[in-house]
Amino acid sequence: IALPKDLFCAIDELKRELKAVVLAHYYQDPDIQDIADFIGDSLGLSQQAATTDKEVIVFAGVHFMAETAKILNPDKLVLLPDLEAGCSLADSCPPKEFAEFKEQHPTAIVVSYINCTADIKAMSDVICTSSNAVKIVNQLPKDRPIIFGPDRNLGRYVAQQTGRDLILWQGSCIVHETFSEKKIVQLKIEHPNAEIIAHPECEETVLRHAKYIGSTTALLKYSQQSSQGTFIVATEPGIIHQMQKEAPSKRFIPAPAMNNCSCNECPHMRLNTLEKLYLSMKHKQPEIIMDESIRQAALKPIQRMLEMSK
Ligand code: 13P
Ligand code: SF4
Repeated sequence: IALPKDLFCAIDELKRELKAVVLAHYYQDPDIQDIADFIGDSLGLSQQAATTDKEVIVFAGVHFMAETAKILNPDKLVLLPDLEAGCSLADSCPPKEFAEFKEQHPTAIVVSYINCTADIKAMSDVICTSSNAVKIVNQLPKDRPIIFGPDRNLGRYVAQQTGRDLILWQGSCIVHETFSEKKIVQLKIEHPNAEIIAHPECEETVLRHAKYIGSTTALLKYSQQSSQGTFIVATEPGIIHQMQKEAPSKRFIPAPAMNNCSCNECPHMRLNTLEKLYLSMKHKQPEIIMDESIRQAALKPIQRMLEMSK
C-alpha cells in the first residue's frame, strides 16, 4: 500500500472524516505524540475516553489502555494501531492464577492497577493507576485485607505511603525493572545538581535515590515546576519529548539500563508507528472487540476508580 507523502496531513483529514479522537500515552514515539489530540498518563487517558463525544477512538498506547476505552465506550469503534502492543505487567497476571490467589484471601478487597487485562479487572473491586493508587487505597475500609496487583513495585510504594499492609501479586514491568542503580548513582555524581525523578513501577533500589516519585503526568509537571535545570528521568524515555518541549532550556537525561541497551524503551508501546496509526484509521482496523459479560464486569471497578479519584 502506498502511503501518503504527508502522514500528518493525511491523519488530520481522517480524524475529521471519521469524527475520531487520537489519544496517546507519553511513551509513544514523538511523531505520534505530536499528532495526538490528547497526550496523557493512564488516568488522564481513561478520563478522556470516558468523556469524549467523538465517534471513533484511536488509541496510541497498549492493549489494556485501548481495552479500557472500549469498556467505557461499547458502542464506539476503538482502534489500536498494532494489536500486538501488549504489556509485560498485564501478562504477568494470568486470570486462572489470579483467581486462585484471590481464593486464598476470601475477605480481601481487590485493588488492581489498570495495567491488567479485562479478565483481571472483572475480578477486581476497584482499579487504580499510578497517579491515584495512594488516594484510592487511603479510602478503603481499615478492617479488611487488601490484595494489590499486578505490580509489586507500585504495590510496595503504595503500602509505604498509606501505611496499609497490602497482599501483593508479584508482577513487574520489564521496562521499569531494567534501570541500573549503580549507573544512576554514577550519573548523579557526574551531575551533582541533577534531580532524580522516578516512576513508582521502578524497583526500591532506584526509588530510594529519587527526589520525586510519580506517574508520567506527575513527573512532567514536577520537572516543569522544579527550579532545577537537569533531571535524571527513571521511566520510559518517551516522556522526555514532552518534558523537553515544555522546558527547552532544561536538560533531561534518560536513566540508564543495566546493560547499556535501549531496553528502557517499552517494546510494546513502540510497536505503534505513525504509519500504522494512519493505516488503522484508513482501514478502520484493528479494532478492540470484547465479550459483553466481561466488559460489564470490568466496567464497575473502573467506574469506581473514576468516582474515587475525583
Ligand atoms: P502512567 O501512565 O500511569 O504513568 O503509567 C505508566 C505505564 O507504565 C503505562 O504503561
Ligand atoms: Fe507495560 Fe511497562 Fe510497557 Fe507500561 S512500560 S506498557 S507497564 S511493559
